[in-house]
Amino acid sequence: MSRNDVIHKETCEENYKYIFKPDILRGKVAFITGGGSGICFTITEIFMRHGCDTVIVGRNLERVKQASETLMAATGGRCLPLSVDVRKPQQILDAVDEAMGQFGKIDILVNGAAGNFLCPLDQMSFNAFRTVMEIDAHGTFNVSKVVYDKSMKTNGGVIINITALLHLRGTQMQTHAGSAKAAIEAMTRHMAVEWGMNGVRVMCVAPGPIADTEGMRRLGGGRVNEEYEKSIPIQRLGLRVDIADVCLFLTTRGSELLTGTTIAADGGSWLTGSNNFYQTKKLLSAGHSLSKAKL
Ligand code: HXC
Ligand code: NAP
Repeated sequence: MSRNDVIHKETCEENYKYIFKPDILRGKVAFITGGGSGICFTITEIFMRHGCDTVIVGRNLERVKQASETLMAATGGRCLPLSVDVRKPQQILDAVDEAMGQFGKIDILVNGAAGNFLCPLDQMSFNAFRTVMEIDAHGTFNVSKVVYDKSMKTNGGVIINITALLHLRGTQMQTHAGSAKAAIEAMTRHMAVEWGMNGVRVMCVAPGPIADTEGMRRLGGGRVNEEYEKSIPIQRLGLRVDIADVCLFLTTRGSELLTGTTIAADGGSWLTGSNNFYQTKKLLSAGHSLSKAKL
Protein backbone atom coordinates (compact mmCIF):
# COMPACT_ATOMS: atom_id res chain seq x y z
CA MET A 1 0.00 0.00 0.00
CA SER A 2 1.34 3.44 -0.85
CA ARG A 3 1.10 6.00 1.90
CA ASN A 4 -1.18 8.09 -0.34
CA ASP A 5 -3.80 5.38 -0.74
CA VAL A 6 -7.11 5.54 1.13
CA ILE A 7 -6.63 4.14 4.65
CA HIS A 8 -8.32 0.78 5.15
CA LYS A 9 -10.44 1.08 8.31
CA GLU A 10 -9.45 -1.59 10.82
CA THR A 11 -12.10 -3.31 12.89
CA CYS A 12 -11.95 -4.97 16.30
CA GLU A 13 -12.94 -8.50 17.28
CA GLU A 14 -16.72 -8.86 17.63
CA ASN A 15 -16.74 -11.68 20.11
CA TYR A 16 -13.34 -12.03 21.76
CA LYS A 17 -13.09 -15.09 24.02
CA TYR A 18 -10.77 -14.48 26.97
CA ILE A 19 -8.14 -17.11 27.73
CA PHE A 20 -6.33 -15.12 30.41
CA LYS A 21 -7.75 -12.96 33.19
CA PRO A 22 -9.06 -9.72 31.66
CA ASP A 23 -6.88 -7.58 33.96
CA ILE A 24 -3.64 -9.52 33.43
CA LEU A 25 -1.90 -6.51 31.81
CA ARG A 26 -3.37 -3.86 34.12
CA GLY A 27 -0.64 -1.29 34.90
CA LYS A 28 1.51 -2.35 31.94
CA VAL A 29 2.50 -0.22 28.96
CA ALA A 30 3.14 -1.59 25.46
CA PHE A 31 4.85 0.13 22.52
CA ILE A 32 3.80 -1.50 19.24
CA THR A 33 5.34 -0.68 15.87
CA GLY A 34 3.00 -1.28 12.94
CA GLY A 35 0.07 -1.16 15.41
CA GLY A 36 -2.02 0.93 13.03
CA SER A 37 -2.97 -2.04 10.87
CA GLY A 38 -3.21 -5.76 10.41
CA ILE A 39 -1.80 -8.25 12.87
CA CYS A 40 -0.29 -5.60 15.15
CA PHE A 41 -3.58 -3.69 15.32
CA THR A 42 -5.18 -6.83 16.74
CA ILE A 43 -2.23 -7.44 19.10
CA THR A 44 -2.80 -3.89 20.39
CA GLU A 45 -6.52 -4.55 20.75
CA ILE A 46 -6.05 -7.76 22.74
CA PHE A 47 -3.45 -6.14 25.01
CA MET A 48 -5.89 -3.26 25.65
CA ARG A 49 -8.71 -5.69 26.38
CA HIS A 50 -6.44 -7.01 29.17
CA GLY A 51 -5.91 -3.58 30.73
CA CYS A 52 -2.69 -2.50 28.98
CA ASP A 53 -1.93 1.11 28.03
CA THR A 54 -0.56 1.23 24.48
CA VAL A 55 1.46 3.36 22.09
CA ILE A 56 1.14 2.55 18.37
CA VAL A 57 3.52 3.86 15.73
CA GLY A 58 3.67 3.85 11.93
CA ARG A 59 4.68 6.31 9.22
CA ASN A 60 1.14 7.38 8.40
CA LEU A 61 -0.16 9.57 11.26
CA GLU A 62 -3.76 9.52 9.98
CA ARG A 63 -3.72 5.74 9.96
CA VAL A 64 -2.45 5.37 13.55
CA LYS A 65 -4.82 8.09 14.77
CA GLN A 66 -7.81 6.38 13.20
CA ALA A 67 -6.69 3.02 14.58
CA SER A 68 -6.27 4.45 18.07
CA GLU A 69 -9.79 5.92 18.02
CA THR A 70 -11.24 2.57 16.94
CA LEU A 71 -9.24 0.72 19.60
CA MET A 72 -10.14 3.06 22.44
CA ALA A 73 -13.84 3.00 21.50
CA ALA A 74 -13.91 -0.81 21.43
CA THR A 75 -11.85 -1.50 24.56
CA GLY A 76 -12.17 1.57 26.78
CA GLY A 77 -8.36 1.54 27.12
CA ARG A 78 -5.70 4.12 26.30
CA CYS A 79 -3.78 4.23 23.01
CA LEU A 80 -1.34 6.97 22.02
CA PRO A 81 -0.79 7.17 18.22
CA LEU A 82 2.53 8.56 16.97
CA SER A 83 4.12 8.98 13.55
CA VAL A 84 7.48 7.20 13.34
CA ASP A 85 9.57 5.75 10.53
CA VAL A 86 11.49 2.95 12.26
CA ARG A 87 14.43 3.62 9.91
CA LYS A 88 14.91 7.05 11.52
CA PRO A 89 16.52 6.96 14.98
CA GLN A 90 15.69 10.58 15.89
CA GLN A 91 11.98 9.97 15.26
CA ILE A 92 12.15 6.90 17.51
CA LEU A 93 13.97 8.81 20.26
CA ASP A 94 11.30 11.55 20.16
CA ALA A 95 8.42 9.05 20.16
CA VAL A 96 9.81 7.02 23.06
CA ASP A 97 10.34 10.26 25.02
CA GLU A 98 6.71 11.17 24.35
CA ALA A 99 5.52 7.71 25.41
CA MET A 100 7.64 7.88 28.59
CA GLY A 101 6.27 11.37 29.31
CA GLN A 102 2.73 10.07 29.06
CA PHE A 103 3.06 6.63 30.70
CA GLY A 104 6.39 6.72 32.62
CA LYS A 105 7.74 3.36 31.34
CA ILE A 106 7.47 0.74 28.59
CA ASP A 107 7.01 -2.86 29.77
CA ILE A 108 6.33 -4.53 26.43
CA LEU A 109 7.73 -3.79 22.98
CA VAL A 110 6.28 -5.43 19.86
CA ASN A 111 8.38 -4.89 16.74
CA GLY A 112 5.86 -5.52 13.98
CA ALA A 113 6.59 -2.83 11.38
CA ALA A 114 7.56 -4.47 8.09
CA GLY A 115 7.56 -4.08 4.35
CA ASN A 116 7.18 -6.81 1.77
CA PHE A 117 6.28 -7.65 -1.83
CA LEU A 118 6.76 -10.60 -4.14
CA CYS A 119 9.93 -10.18 -6.20
CA PRO A 120 12.15 -12.74 -7.92
CA LEU A 121 15.77 -12.27 -6.88
CA ASP A 122 16.99 -11.55 -10.42
CA GLN A 123 14.53 -8.65 -10.67
CA MET A 124 15.24 -7.13 -7.26
CA SER A 125 16.99 -3.75 -7.21
CA PHE A 126 19.66 -2.87 -4.66
CA ASN A 127 17.27 -0.36 -3.17
CA ALA A 128 14.38 -2.85 -2.94
CA PHE A 129 16.51 -5.27 -0.90
CA ARG A 130 17.93 -2.48 1.26
CA THR A 131 14.49 -0.98 1.92
CA VAL A 132 13.06 -4.17 3.39
CA MET A 133 16.23 -4.90 5.38
CA GLU A 134 16.07 -1.37 6.79
CA ILE A 135 12.40 -1.44 7.78
CA ASP A 136 12.39 -4.95 9.25
CA ALA A 137 15.87 -5.65 10.61
CA HIS A 138 17.34 -2.19 11.24
CA GLY A 139 13.90 -1.02 12.43
CA THR A 140 13.78 -3.79 15.02
CA PHE A 141 17.29 -2.96 16.24
CA ASN A 142 16.62 0.80 16.31
CA VAL A 143 13.41 0.64 18.31
CA SER A 144 14.64 -2.09 20.69
CA LYS A 145 17.80 -0.13 21.49
CA VAL A 146 15.91 3.07 22.28
CA VAL A 147 13.24 1.35 24.38
CA TYR A 148 15.94 -0.63 26.23
CA ASP A 149 18.08 2.46 26.92
CA LYS A 150 15.18 4.61 28.07
CA SER A 151 13.09 2.11 30.03
CA MET A 152 13.83 -1.62 30.00
CA LYS A 153 17.46 -1.33 31.14
CA THR A 154 16.20 -0.28 34.56
CA ASN A 155 12.62 -1.61 34.58
CA GLY A 156 12.95 -4.90 32.66
CA GLY A 157 10.37 -5.98 30.14
CA VAL A 158 9.39 -8.22 27.25
CA ILE A 159 10.31 -7.70 23.59
CA ILE A 160 8.35 -9.58 20.94
CA ASN A 161 9.72 -9.44 17.41
CA ILE A 162 7.24 -10.41 14.70
CA THR A 163 9.14 -12.46 12.15
CA ALA A 164 8.12 -15.14 9.62
CA LEU A 165 9.14 -18.63 8.54
CA LEU A 166 10.25 -17.61 5.03
CA HIS A 167 13.96 -18.16 5.60
CA LEU A 168 13.59 -21.72 6.87
CA ARG A 169 12.98 -23.08 3.37
CA GLY A 170 14.36 -20.28 1.19
CA THR A 171 10.85 -19.23 0.13
CA GLN A 172 10.66 -18.17 -3.52
CA MET A 173 10.52 -14.42 -4.25
CA GLN A 174 11.11 -13.59 -0.60
CA THR A 175 14.92 -13.18 -0.39
CA HIS A 176 14.59 -9.64 0.97
CA ALA A 177 11.99 -10.39 3.67
CA GLY A 178 13.41 -13.81 4.56
CA SER A 179 16.91 -12.36 5.01
CA ALA A 180 15.54 -9.56 7.17
CA LYS A 181 13.48 -11.88 9.35
CA ALA A 182 16.44 -14.28 9.74
CA ALA A 183 18.54 -11.33 10.92
CA ILE A 184 15.85 -10.45 13.45
CA GLU A 185 15.78 -14.03 14.73
CA ALA A 186 19.55 -13.91 15.31
CA MET A 187 19.30 -10.44 16.86
CA THR A 188 16.66 -11.80 19.23
CA ARG A 189 19.10 -14.35 20.63
CA HIS A 190 21.87 -11.74 21.01
CA MET A 191 19.49 -9.39 22.83
CA ALA A 192 18.22 -12.20 25.05
CA VAL A 193 21.79 -13.06 26.09
CA GLU A 194 22.88 -9.49 26.85
CA TRP A 195 19.67 -8.07 28.31
CA GLY A 196 18.49 -11.05 30.35
CA MET A 197 20.37 -9.86 33.42
CA ASN A 198 18.36 -6.64 33.25
CA GLY A 199 15.10 -8.57 33.43
CA VAL A 200 14.38 -8.39 29.71
CA ARG A 201 13.07 -11.40 27.78
CA VAL A 202 13.25 -11.25 23.98
CA MET A 203 11.34 -13.57 21.64
CA CYS A 204 10.12 -13.95 18.07
CA VAL A 205 6.62 -14.83 17.04
CA ALA A 206 6.67 -16.11 13.47
CA PRO A 207 3.20 -16.14 11.91
CA GLY A 208 2.30 -18.29 8.94
CA PRO A 209 -0.35 -17.10 6.48
CA ILE A 210 -2.83 -14.93 8.37
CA ALA A 211 -6.28 -14.12 6.96
CA ASP A 212 -7.40 -10.54 6.35
CA THR A 213 -3.95 -8.97 6.33
CA GLU A 214 -1.90 -6.82 3.97
CA GLY A 215 0.74 -9.55 4.00
CA MET A 216 -1.68 -12.12 2.57
CA ARG A 217 -3.10 -9.59 0.10
CA ARG A 218 0.43 -8.97 -1.19
CA LEU A 219 1.84 -12.49 -1.01
CA GLY A 220 -1.18 -14.74 -1.27
CA GLY A 221 -0.89 -14.69 -5.06
CA GLY A 222 -4.64 -15.30 -5.37
CA ARG A 223 -4.09 -18.84 -4.12
CA VAL A 224 -6.19 -18.86 -0.98
CA ASN A 225 -9.03 -21.30 -1.53
CA GLU A 226 -10.29 -24.41 0.21
CA GLU A 227 -7.56 -26.57 -1.30
CA TYR A 228 -4.90 -24.17 -0.02
CA GLU A 229 -6.40 -24.20 3.48
CA LYS A 230 -6.59 -27.99 3.46
CA SER A 231 -2.88 -28.13 2.62
CA ILE A 232 -2.14 -26.59 6.04
CA PRO A 233 -1.86 -29.23 8.80
CA ILE A 234 -4.50 -27.54 11.00
CA GLN A 235 -6.74 -27.16 7.90
CA ARG A 236 -7.16 -23.40 8.08
CA LEU A 237 -5.40 -20.06 7.80
CA GLY A 238 -4.28 -18.34 10.97
CA LEU A 239 -6.32 -15.46 12.34
CA ARG A 240 -4.95 -12.18 13.62
CA VAL A 241 -6.36 -13.01 17.03
CA ASP A 242 -4.41 -16.29 17.09
CA ILE A 243 -1.19 -14.27 16.85
CA ALA A 244 -2.42 -11.75 19.43
CA ASP A 245 -3.16 -14.54 21.92
CA VAL A 246 0.33 -16.02 21.43
CA CYS A 247 1.86 -12.58 22.06
CA LEU A 248 -0.29 -12.12 25.13
CA PHE A 249 0.93 -15.46 26.50
CA LEU A 250 4.53 -14.29 26.04
CA THR A 251 3.89 -11.32 28.33
CA THR A 252 2.60 -13.51 31.16
CA ARG A 253 4.21 -15.40 34.02
CA GLY A 254 3.42 -18.66 32.23
CA SER A 255 6.19 -17.85 29.72
CA GLU A 256 8.89 -16.79 32.16
CA LEU A 257 11.35 -19.46 31.02
CA LEU A 258 11.06 -18.37 27.40
CA THR A 259 13.69 -16.06 25.97
CA GLY A 260 15.82 -15.99 22.82
CA THR A 261 13.39 -18.35 21.14
CA THR A 262 11.01 -18.29 18.18
CA ILE A 263 7.41 -19.44 18.36
CA ALA A 264 6.25 -20.68 14.96
CA ALA A 265 2.57 -19.73 14.95
CA ASP A 266 1.50 -21.13 11.61
CA GLY A 267 -0.58 -24.26 12.11
CA GLY A 268 2.32 -26.19 10.61
CA SER A 269 2.03 -24.52 7.20
CA TRP A 270 5.75 -24.06 6.66
CA LEU A 271 6.13 -27.83 6.68
CA THR A 272 3.71 -28.39 3.82
CA GLY A 273 3.49 -25.17 1.75
CA SER A 274 4.50 -25.31 -1.91
CA ASN A 275 7.81 -23.66 -2.83
CA ASN A 276 8.50 -24.65 -6.41
CA PHE A 277 10.31 -21.81 -8.18
CA TYR A 278 10.84 -23.84 -11.37
CA GLN A 279 7.06 -24.15 -11.77
CA THR A 280 6.46 -20.50 -10.90
CA LYS A 281 9.06 -19.38 -13.48
CA LYS A 282 7.23 -21.42 -16.12
CA LEU A 283 3.92 -19.78 -15.18
CA LEU A 284 5.45 -16.32 -15.26
CA SER A 285 7.10 -16.90 -18.63
CA ALA A 286 3.70 -18.13 -19.92
CA GLY A 287 2.33 -14.67 -19.11
CA HIS A 288 0.71 -15.22 -15.69
CA SER A 289 1.02 -12.21 -13.38
CA LEU A 290 2.59 -12.52 -9.94
CA SER A 291 -0.76 -11.95 -8.27
CA LYS A 292 -2.54 -14.61 -10.37
CA ALA A 293 0.17 -17.28 -10.49
CA LYS A 294 -0.56 -20.33 -8.32
CA LEU A 295 2.62 -20.19 -6.26
C1 HXC B 1 9.87 -5.00 -6.79
C2 HXC B 1 9.65 -3.11 -5.46
C3 HXC B 1 8.28 -3.39 -5.24
C4 HXC B 1 7.73 -4.56 -5.88
C5 HXC B 1 8.78 -1.59 -4.16
N1 HXC B 1 9.90 -1.99 -4.76
N2 HXC B 1 7.77 -2.43 -4.41
N3 HXC B 1 10.44 -3.92 -6.20
N4 HXC B 1 8.56 -5.34 -6.62
N5 HXC B 1 6.45 -4.90 -5.74
C6 HXC B 1 11.19 -1.31 -4.77
C7 HXC B 1 11.08 0.06 -5.38
O1 HXC B 1 11.09 0.00 -6.81
C8 HXC B 1 12.31 0.75 -4.82
O2 HXC B 1 13.48 0.37 -5.50
C9 HXC B 1 12.41 0.15 -3.43
O3 HXC B 1 11.65 -1.06 -3.45
C10 HXC B 1 11.83 1.07 -2.35
O4 HXC B 1 10.51 1.38 -2.72
P1 HXC B 1 9.75 2.66 -2.10
O5 HXC B 1 8.35 2.63 -2.58
O6 HXC B 1 10.55 3.90 -2.32
O7 HXC B 1 9.87 2.33 -0.53
P2 HXC B 1 9.05 2.87 0.71
O8 HXC B 1 8.21 4.07 0.35
O9 HXC B 1 10.01 2.97 1.80
O10 HXC B 1 7.98 1.68 0.99
C11 HXC B 1 8.40 0.42 1.49
C12 HXC B 1 7.71 -0.73 0.76
C13 HXC B 1 6.16 -0.53 0.70
C14 HXC B 1 8.08 -2.03 1.47
C15 HXC B 1 8.23 -0.81 -0.67
O11 HXC B 1 5.53 -1.58 -0.01
C16 HXC B 1 5.58 -0.40 2.09
O12 HXC B 1 5.51 0.69 2.64
N6 HXC B 1 5.10 -1.51 2.70
C17 HXC B 1 4.53 -1.51 4.07
C18 HXC B 1 3.33 -2.44 4.16
C19 HXC B 1 3.68 -3.86 3.84
O13 HXC B 1 4.56 -4.16 3.00
N7 HXC B 1 2.98 -4.76 4.52
C20 HXC B 1 3.12 -6.20 4.31
C21 HXC B 1 3.92 -6.77 5.42
S1 HXC B 1 3.66 -8.47 5.32
P3 HXC B 1 14.14 1.28 -6.68
O14 HXC B 1 15.36 0.52 -7.08
O15 HXC B 1 13.11 1.35 -7.78
O16 HXC B 1 14.45 2.62 -6.07
C22 HXC B 1 4.94 -9.36 5.54
C23 HXC B 1 4.62 -10.85 5.40
C24 HXC B 1 5.76 -11.74 5.64
O17 HXC B 1 5.98 -8.88 5.82
C25 HXC B 1 5.51 -13.22 5.45
C26 HXC B 1 4.25 -13.70 4.85
C27 HXC B 1 4.07 -15.20 4.82
P1 NAP C 1 0.61 -4.55 7.61
O1 NAP C 1 -0.82 -4.36 8.03
O2 NAP C 1 1.03 -3.95 6.33
O3 NAP C 1 1.54 -4.04 8.80
C1 NAP C 1 2.77 -3.43 8.61
C2 NAP C 1 2.77 -2.17 9.43
O4 NAP C 1 4.10 -1.66 9.45
C3 NAP C 1 1.87 -1.06 8.88
O5 NAP C 1 1.03 -0.60 9.92
C4 NAP C 1 2.85 0.03 8.46
O6 NAP C 1 2.30 1.33 8.75
C5 NAP C 1 4.06 -0.27 9.34
N1 NAP C 1 5.30 0.16 8.72
C6 NAP C 1 5.80 -0.20 7.51
N2 NAP C 1 6.96 0.41 7.28
C7 NAP C 1 7.21 1.18 8.38
C8 NAP C 1 8.27 2.04 8.76
N3 NAP C 1 9.31 2.26 7.94
N4 NAP C 1 8.21 2.66 9.96
C9 NAP C 1 7.14 2.44 10.79
N5 NAP C 1 6.12 1.65 10.49
C10 NAP C 1 6.16 1.02 9.29
O7 NAP C 1 0.98 -6.09 7.52
P2 NAP C 1 0.59 -7.45 8.29
O8 NAP C 1 0.35 -8.41 7.20
O9 NAP C 1 -0.39 -7.25 9.36
O10 NAP C 1 2.03 -7.83 8.93
C11 NAP C 1 2.36 -7.49 10.27
C12 NAP C 1 3.62 -8.21 10.70
O11 NAP C 1 3.42 -9.64 10.61
C13 NAP C 1 4.85 -7.92 9.85
O12 NAP C 1 6.00 -7.92 10.66
C14 NAP C 1 4.88 -9.09 8.90
O13 NAP C 1 6.17 -9.31 8.37
C15 NAP C 1 4.45 -10.21 9.81
N6 NAP C 1 3.90 -11.37 9.10
C16 NAP C 1 2.69 -11.29 8.48
C17 NAP C 1 2.16 -12.41 7.87
C18 NAP C 1 0.81 -12.37 7.21
O14 NAP C 1 0.28 -13.41 6.81
N7 NAP C 1 0.20 -11.23 7.09
C19 NAP C 1 2.89 -13.62 7.87
C20 NAP C 1 4.14 -13.65 8.50
C21 NAP C 1 4.63 -12.53 9.12
P3 NAP C 1 2.66 2.65 7.83
O15 NAP C 1 2.44 2.24 6.41
O16 NAP C 1 1.72 3.68 8.36
O17 NAP C 1 4.07 2.96 8.14
